[in-house]
Amino acid sequence: MPNAENNKKKLFIKTWGCQMNVYDSRRMADILRPFGYEVSEEPEDADMMILNTCHIREKATDKVFSELGRMRRLKDKKEAEGGQMLMAVAGCVAQAEGDFIIERAPYVDLVFGPQTYHELPEMIAKLTGAYGQDRIVSTELDTQTKFDALPEENNKQGVTAFLSVQEGCDKFCTFCVVPYTRGGEFSRSVEQIVNEAKALIDNGAREITLLGQNVNAYHGEGKDGKTWTLPLLIEELAKLDGLDRIRYTTSHPRDMDMALIEAHRDIEKLMPYLHLPIQSGSNKILKAMNRKHERDMYLDIIADLRKARPDIAMSGDFIVGFPGETDQDFEDTMDIVRQVKYASGYSFKYSARPGTPAANMTNLVREDVKAERLAALQNLINEYQLDFNTKCIGMTMPVLFDRADKAGDKLHGRTAYNQAIHVPGPARLMGHSANVIITGAFANSLTGTLELQESVLKSA
Ligand code: SAH
Ligand code: SF4
Ligand code: F3S
Repeated sequence: MPNAENNKKKLFIKTWGCQMNVYDSRRMADILRPFGYEVSEEPEDADMMILNTCHIREKATDKVFSELGRMRRLKDKKEAEGGQMLMAVAGCVAQAEGDFIIERAPYVDLVFGPQTYHELPEMIAKLTGAYGQDRIVSTELDTQTKFDALPEENNKQGVTAFLSVQEGCDKFCTFCVVPYTRGGEFSRSVEQIVNEAKALIDNGAREITLLGQNVNAYHGEGKDGKTWTLPLLIEELAKLDGLDRIRYTTSHPRDMDMALIEAHRDIEKLMPYLHLPIQSGSNKILKAMNRKHERDMYLDIIADLRKARPDIAMSGDFIVGFPGETDQDFEDTMDIVRQVKYASGYSFKYSARPGTPAANMTNLVREDVKAERLAALQNLINEYQLDFNTKCIGMTMPVLFDRADKAGDKLHGRTAYNQAIHVPGPARLMGHSANVIITGAFANSLTGTLELQESVLKSA
């Protein structure tokens, strides 16, 4: 066992991209902690710097290279003073670009993908030790090995925590890099997940969000040795004392089966909120995207969900300007938003990604048309978001408080529908749920007052 006390080192991790990357960054810190690395919020003077990257759109990838240039100056400074700073690029850009990163930025010491970070201590030893290796690129895609090798969860994530249960994707939407950067679908065992959930709860978590690129395709080994699907896993986790809320993200419409829909009716701890991307409302575009479902199937799922849990809040992702998208195709997307009345939504301009089938498509949509469509879609989504929030005014809802402001008299929390809410109240409510009367609504948040306080005021 390495002796952490005698040899403290500073670790800086910068994270881009999805919640899976946020989860991975935390786990990298878990792995390195026993070797003396302590996470620092500042990159200056770090012994090890990790940029955990996202490859999903062109802009995301560009950010990495500009950040690398900036960080290089810190490395040069430290080396001029006789120190050493290891620079690593991790995550999905690392997986996709591999050696090319070192070619373009030769001062980078280490490039590793999302499935090899459990080997960080060995990689660091090779770079710093007697081996004298000066560069490492590690981009294997064996997900199972990683999860088996990760140390026990020992991080304080706070009141709301992420837990990775599934990784990778076999869907191969024609626009998307994820199947290439994360590999094929892999599900962790129920036992491993339950143990990690218990550790999170012991460290103060009251809400756990189960993560996966295709989380509802979950099919892990169950307690009985058989394959369990997501609703069974959720049922098992709902038994854990101390855990109040369960969420899961991101789901694919194809894997939204009846058992999962009914779990929203039957499992109280499962929150009435679902992020279910459709990407486009046009059947022609859905086909070109290889989404493997049509718009009606998506609308049917939502109808079933609303039958099972009438108040469920929906959220979605949309891409505008996919090759071949006409005004009518775009109208079909706007129409989906009007029909579903999303409580929240995320929309993006299509970005051609090298190596994906859509990157070779012709019939491209002009950038100015993409920008126009994006603005129109975002306006419409915002209207529905505000409408959903406004309808909450006057209602009383349980809110789980996850943050208090510095002065200790204002709280931040989330409603069951995942709305952010600001409430005046004492810091001791952090980590607890309390009923809140909703008093104000904005596009992205609510305000409210504690119900208890209200009744005390009334009786006074
Ligand atoms: N696994 C999830 C999300 C994947 S990435 C799913 O299947 O829905 C998150 C979102 O980024 C996607 O839902 C999509 O809306 C967007 N996205 C992915 N690739 C993109 C691309 N090439 N251009 C623009 N947006 C993209
Ligand atoms: Fe990408 Fe499609 Fe897989 Fe989602 S389902 S990760 S959009 S390929
Ligand atoms: Fe980005 Fe990789 Fe997540 S490409 S969105 S960090 S899976």
